[in-house]
Amino acid sequence: MLRWLCDLIGYDGESFGTMTSGGSEANLIALKCARDRAGDGVRDHGLSATVFGTNLIVYASDQCHYSLDKSVDILGLGRQSLRKVPSDDRFHIRIDALREMIEHDRARGDTPLCITGAAGATSTGIVDPLDELAEVARQYQLWFHVDAAYGGALAFSEKHRARLRGIERADSVTIDPHKWMFVPFACGAVLMRGGGRILRDAFDITPEYLSEERGGEDVAFDFFRYGQLGTRRFNALKVWMAMKHLGVRGYARIIERQIELAHYFAARIDELENFERVGEVETAVCCFRFAPREVKRGDEDAARDSLQKALQQRIEQSGEAWLATTVLHGRRVLRLNINSFLTERRHIDDLVELLRREGGHLMEEQKV
Ligand SMILES: Cc1ncc(COP(=O)(O)O)c(C=O)c1O
Repeated sequence: MLRWLCDLIGYDGESFGTMTSGGSEANLIALKCARDRAGDGVRDHGLSATVFGTNLIVYASDQCHYSLDKSVDILGLGRQSLRKVPSDDRFHIRIDALREMIEHDRARGDTPLCITGAAGATSTGIVDPLDELAEVARQYQLWFHVDAAYGGALAFSEKHRARLRGIERADSVTIDPHKWMFVPFACGAVLMRGGGRILRDAFDITPEYLSEERGGEDVAFDFFRYGQLGTRRFNALKVWMAMKHLGVRGYARIIERQIELAHYFAARIDELENFERVGEVETAVCCFRFAPREVKRGDEDAARDSLQKALQQRIEQSGEAWLATTVLHGRRVLRLNINSFLTERRHIDDLVELLRREGGHLMEEQKV
């Protein structure tokens, strides 16, 4: 299963990985491997004994998933060591700002450690320019991690795979079969370009009761040596079955259809009075805003933000559809993510009608 996932994202035969409970654990494992490269003996002697007097810095866009904040804390780097690089108006990481931040940190004596890129950012579904990030990481000799928890599945589609260009240059990749591969919770994976050795260097331990008497090949698949977990669920089985059932082409068909539906929804939103689109559709996520021309006087931004929440609640209470809200560059927006393989065009049409109707009721109610 891990071999298939490595092949999928374009890694070569040396690569390997381990199944995880999800993207949070996968990101933590990847950053642990990056941290261990900070100096000789970090794993055994800790940061204070090995890289004392410098902060190890991880870079990610301001759209990154919160599991990175948690990870740097758990690894003893502190949350402040995660530098949130500003994203541009399409919500991609700004490479110029990233370079500036790295130079600035180096100049003041901190130690840049790792760059992470998003392939399918949580709020917007966008993919950072991975090839450019790989280039910056190479130039500064930093670990390069791609959080493809959601967007990694683009690799199934010949039509959309190009968006991931550069992912194969990453030192590590997170991919979650329980997101865009529709496998039941909980099922993630972290993949290492350099192979299982990297994970074993970070985690291997041989307690007496699990010593290597059996020896040989078996030990190479003792997954407690590849991550934090000891006892594990048989997570690979459900991915294996889904892959056997759908195959690469089956996955490609569903993913392509969902992206098409997200574009269709975006086009319908563009036509709809009182709604506006926010950002781009690069996966099956579309962000948008309920934007009637007039809102209550006073703090207009706050009034517009609360309109999004109010509309989200109305949609939820209708029982007909469910949308999330999120905050992009400080403003609340509505967020659609098509993630059921049963969704069809008529559901999108129904949703647009529902938005129009509930938006209208909301305006009447608030006398906007
Ligand atoms: C981009 C990204 N990375 C990581 C995660 C964390 O994944 P999990 O909830 O499986 O731990 C998420 C979850 O939404 C995500 O969107």
